Amino acid sequence: MKILAIDTSADDTSAAITQGRIILSNISYSQIALHAKWGGIFPTIAKRAHIKMIEPVIQKALQKAKVTFKNIDAIAITYGPGLAPALQIGIQKAQEIAKINTLPIIPVNHIEGHIYSAFAQNRNKNPKREFTFPFLAIVVSGGHTEFIIVKKHVSYTVVGYSVDDAAGEALDKGARLLVESSYPGGPVIEKLSLHGNNNYHIFPRAMMRDKTNNMSFSGLKTSLKYYLDKKDTIDKLNHINDIAASYQEAVFKSIIKKLNNVISVYSIKCMVGGGGVMANNYLRKLLQDLSKNHTMRCYLTNKKLCGDNAAMIGIAAYYKAKNNIILPANTNIDRVPRANLSKLEYS
Ligand code: KG4
Ligand code: ZN
Repeated sequence: MKILAIDTSADDTSAAITQGRIILSNISYSQIALHAKWGGIFPTIAKRAHIKMIEPVIQKALQKAKVTFKNIDAIAITYGPGLAPALQIGIQKAQEIAKINTLPIIPVNHIEGHIYSAFAQNRNKNPKREFTFPFLAIVVSGGHTEFIIVKKHVSYTVVGYSVDDAAGEALDKGARLLVESSYPGGPVIEKLSLHGNNNYHIFPRAMMRDKTNNMSFSGLKTSLKYYLDKKDTIDKLNHINDIAASYQEAVFKSIIKKLNNVISVYSIKCMVGGGGVMANNYLRKLLQDLSKNHTMRCYLTNKKLCGDNAAMIGIAAYYKAKNNIILPANTNIDRVPRANLSKLEYS
């Protein structure tokens, strides 16, 4: 089954052709340069850029996979969560293509995409990575920090999440306090941290004694702000690497601490990780060490597929279609900016 997948949930206009778990093409136009001066995504600019780029990105995805609409069996589209005006452009385009070509449509939750990205394969069907249910999925991105038990295909239970800012958001906001106009901030903090001391300053880690598996990151950026306000400029500049490393340590160790708990309580044997922040080498190492300590399998998404992309939506869509979640061409798909994996709109 060949799927044309589209994702316009945030600041990437992305289209891909997938066949089962295999990626035939995956094309993205990143809007980072357009949003950098605002220090975050500016909704009207995002919408305009999606309108401009959606058609060329789809055409390039078809060309690269050497297919035309005649070879496509279904259209997969992200309906949420994400930025409403951005989601709308992708949905409109998907519905237009579905109607003109009489193709069924598969609505996908963006987080499902990040989960299934860990199972993506190249044309040689590598990496092999079998599905062993139940598994624990960890999604760490700019909008979400979630621990999800996947009992079977397309069946999710969220067992832990950030109650306020996502981990990626905390890194983005922290980076802005440390270095002017740094967007996205995660890679900036990662780079600074490479030469820093993780334990230079111990930033407070919220909700660590709380009985739930939930996390909180909004207080962390406030504590960084107070810390920097008190520090003199020369001292701050001399220790910017140490401060970044200590801040990153607080974010990641909060996640690891809660994960330890989840793994013991739910007797996890396999965990998979995805989302933009999963591109971070230090977080990847912490998760790999954690899986060794608990003798678990650990499938982290290829670094090239951690950030938003349409291929992950196509792969999730394939398993949804296999579970009969596939709708006629003229079905009206609504954008759901706050879509929740625990209460799937399409299941
Ligand atoms: O998954 P994603 O592309 O978009 C959302 O769905 O949110 O994630 C974007 C997030 C941003 O917060 C960005 O700073 C973070 O991923 N990120 C990283 C790295 N690369 C991207 N965070 C830490 N280390 C990285 N190398
Ligand atoms: Zn994402």
